Amino acid sequence: MTKEELIKEAIKARDFSYSPYSKFKVGSALLTKDGRIFLGANIENASFPVTMCGERNATYNAYCHGIKKEDISAIAIVADTSVPCSPCGACRQVLAELLPEDTHIYLANLKGDIKETRIKDLLPYAFDASELKS
Ligand code: THU
Repeated sequence: MTKEELIKEAIKARDFSYSPYSKFKVGSALLTKDGRIFLGANIENASFPVTMCGERNATYNAYCHGIKKEDISAIAIVADTSVPCSPCGACRQVLAELLPEDTHIYLANLKGDIKETRIKDLLPYAFDASELKS
């Protein structure tokens, strides 16, 4: 599957967004090495802080279907932004733990702009489980 095809899936996932407060729809599509796709969208709440982001929902959706870290190949994240949609800090922390380091991360918008990145670039010097072992 090409990155453009995965981004198309993430655009479709935006239809599942529940975002009555921000009206900002985020769609995400996670691709496994064997070609399966798991979608996620942002789901908001009147208690704003309990909102869940699209890319975390896609990742949790994959894990809830038995996908393991090493099975994951790529993730696309799309919103209607002027430049490719940038994941929030909380999502970077979650992606750093749940996706392999070499996962292709495609940030995109609806105009066709794509930025390809890796978790080490999005979250250098990340806090991780090794910190808990002292
Ligand atoms: N949002 C995401 O889904 N992903 C991000 O990385 C940034 C923010 C959502 C949360 C909220 O529903 C809306 O975008 C506005 O912040």
